[in-house]
Amino acid sequence: MVFFVAVGTLCAICGALAFLLTLADRYLNDYGLCTISINAGERVFTTTGGDSLLTSLSQEQIFIPSACGGRGSCGLCKLKVLGGGGPLLPTETPHLEADEIKDRMRLSCQVKVREDMAIEIPEALFSVREFRACVTELTPLTHDIQLVRMELIDPETIDFTPGAYVQLQAPEYPDSPESVYRAYSVASDPRDTRHLDLIIRRVPGGICTTWVFDHLTVGQRVTFNGPHGDFEMSDTESEMIFIAGGSGMAPFLSMLLDMVQTQTTRPARYFFGAVNRRDMFYLDEMKEFEAKIPDFKFIPALSNPEEAEGWDGETGLVTDVVKAHYRDCSDKEAYLCGSPGMIDACVKVLTGLGMPEENIFFDKF
Ligand SMILES: Cc1cc2nc3c(=O)[nH]c(=O)nc-3n(C[C@H](O)[C@H](O)[C@H](O)COP(=O)(O)OP(=O)(O)OC[C@H]3O[C@@H](n4cnc5c(N)ncnc54)[C@H](O)[C@@H]3O)c2cc1C
Ligand code: FES
Repeated sequence: MVFFVAVGTLCAICGALAFLLTLADRYLNDYGLCTISINAGERVFTTTGGDSLLTSLSQEQIFIPSACGGRGSCGLCKLKVLGGGGPLLPTETPHLEADEIKDRMRLSCQVKVREDMAIEIPEALFSVREFRACVTELTPLTHDIQLVRMELIDPETIDFTPGAYVQLQAPEYPDSPESVYRAYSVASDPRDTRHLDLIIRRVPGGICTTWVFDHLTVGQRVTFNGPHGDFEMSDTESEMIFIAGGSGMAPFLSMLLDMVQTQTTRPARYFFGAVNRRDMFYLDEMKEFEAKIPDFKFIPALSNPEEAEGWDGETGLVTDVVKAHYRDCSDKEAYLCGSPGMIDACVKVLTGLGMPEENIFFDKF
């Protein structure tokens, strides 16, 4: 009997404490309405405090690049906070250079809206829109890479520069309790403004790619925002060296489709690395590009081909293949797309061949 009374009393105390804590939490976290002024008052809106600055802006249809979906790992959601925002957080510092900190840059996904704020964002972000589209095609390109083709519904068209990316929204699904955004480079022809192609590689256990591979179906409606990014071909006449692996194919496909239309005579060499034959794709399409673009060559390389595959192309790491092709890259430009490790290795090789760092452009996946 005494035992039950003791347990009952303990439960009552715990319940009361939980209730008080909930009340305190609600009271302490009630930041009320906060006003956010953008670019010296060019746009001003009011929001209920408590969310991240990134979320508050997206609720206002202002989409800041955020490839990691607000986890503080991609560093893309930087913007200038001139007033409000509290002190710089330890989660932000790894992504900010000393001069950026001096310039009041912050990671908008880490800054909470708790008071009125004044911020600055690039003018171009005002033209980033949210799109609704219908999936019209899902085609496997390799065992773990898939083409996702969409037709735009609202708005019906999109303008983008080859190299741009969009942020696809993966909605909630059984193993993922909340929706997330992930960045995907556009793989389609910029002249086909009604459709958008993405090339997506499955990341085992990845939230968005599991949804794309295991849940997304033809006919399904999807949401994305964009276009984002500044990875694009320069307007010089220098030879372009493209280097990619896996789904890093995407932005180059868009660039090549554009080059077919412009009939540029600018030299371009495309080095594409894969482990073995089952990771290689679009070989026939690349042959077609070689025929249609005046000075373009595709150089596929396998780092670990199996004998039975009868591979007669280049072998070895793509960086070694690039090194073997050039003696001097000082007058060329490089465009790289792939994992951070691949990009760092390519930058090392290219600068070693005399390429100035400012001639190297990349999107790290
Ligand atoms: C500018 C930009 C453009 C991009 N374009 C493309 C594209 O065209 N095609 C494409 O397939 N991807 C692209 N990505 C990568 C993409 O945004 C996602 O990061 C990727 O699809 C994984 O998302 P997820 O939600 O499935 O995995 P998450 O749930 O985010 O990650 C699950 C786990 O896998 C790890 N992980 C995350 N990404 C990778 C990766 N790429 N390889 C290995 N491990 C990883 C994470 O650290 C985490 O531990 C791009 C990224 C950026 C920044
Ligand atoms: S959204 Fe990736 S660091 Fe903020």
